[in-house]
Amino acid sequence: MTTSYDVESVPAALRVRELMTTGLLSQAVSVLCELNVPDVLSIPRSNTDIAEEVDADAEGLLPFLRAACAAGVLSEPAPRTFELTEVGQVLKSDHPTSMRNMCALTCREEFNRTWANAIHTARTGEPCFSVPYGKPFFEYMASNREFATLFDKAMTSSAAVDNLLSSYDFSRARHVVDVGGGRGAMLASLLKNNPHLTGTLLDLPHVVANAEGIMAEAGVADRVTLVPGSFFDEIPPAGDVYLLSRVIGNWNDADSLRILAAVRAVMKPDSRMVIVGQMPSASDRTHYPRQLDLYMFALLGARLRSYDEYQELFTQVNLTATDQWNFPDSESVLEARPA
Ligand SMILES: C[S@@+](CC[C@H](N)C(=O)[O-])C[C@H]1O[C@@H](n2cnc3c(N)ncnc32)[C@H](O)[C@@H]1O
Repeated sequence: MTTSYDVESVPAALRVRELMTTGLLSQAVSVLCELNVPDVLSIPRSNTDIAEEVDADAEGLLPFLRAACAAGVLSEPAPRTFELTEVGQVLKSDHPTSMRNMCALTCREEFNRTWANAIHTARTGEPCFSVPYGKPFFEYMASNREFATLFDKAMTSSAAVDNLLSSYDFSRARHVVDVGGGRGAMLASLLKNNPHLTGTLLDLPHVVANAEGIMAEAGVADRVTLVPGSFFDEIPPAGDVYLLSRVIGNWNDADSLRILAAVRAVMKPDSRMVIVGQMPSASDRTHYPRQLDLYMFALLGARLRSYDEYQELFTQVNLTATDQWNFPDSESVLEARPA
């Protein structure tokens, strides 16, 4: 967010008033993304022009455009004319690190209703997603295809894939089992970049059902086995590497231990577990890890874990951490092997 004043010179009550309405800026950016406004802003355009192209009301759009200016993703170089700032470029759907789907996801009704019940989490230590929805987050997703599709798309993070590819050496592995691998974007990249590898993708049936196209597009479909199922039931055997990307961070300790133990049970003595996820560190440049920690707890009852906390979990299932690669903003890759 951009502030045009010297923060220290503004009275506390005004700063708190701004703080308490800051969430509206993200809502405004989300609305603009849903209307595809960033995609029509390759040149500066008036609110009337934009409204006509995205089928909105010119006056109705104006406060959203100006809120997005306050958020730093648009600017208003002339009255009622708007353009994307450098930061705002990532809102375009064809940007290589597009955040469009993430913006669309985080302002969904599902999240707003979760936050409206956040006090339940603070009082009880339980996730509050199930207060308005009557079931845990991933169960809800299984029954809501539209939300699940958006979630899966938003989870396609090129940063996580790049981090994994640039850090972990897959040259000695032959078969990778991606546990909770989503629609398989990470596994597809991995196999594309490592022609000697074969892979198995395990995720819930409604998620795996969408993986075929992604594998075919990457040209790796003939090297992948798709396994619809639950990691609480059965883990496919014969993996040299068991990849758990942004999976353990979604579960509390008891469930995480169930998943880790299930994977450990099928690991060979020379198999490796590779965990990709967020581990807060002193080098984080944004508040995002703090915010994600809150998200994980409210939605799923889970916490971001540090390296030492992972090691504590590993010890309980006869695993030991062997290597770690840290990237800026709490992204990490962690290797573990049978103890
Ligand atoms: C945050 S996403 C991560 C997806 C992917 N690994 C990535 O890094 O992009 C968590 C994944 O866990 C999957 N999942 C949740 N419960 C599961 C279960 N019981 N069995 C298998 N997968 C599950 C979800 O469907 C989702 O794809």
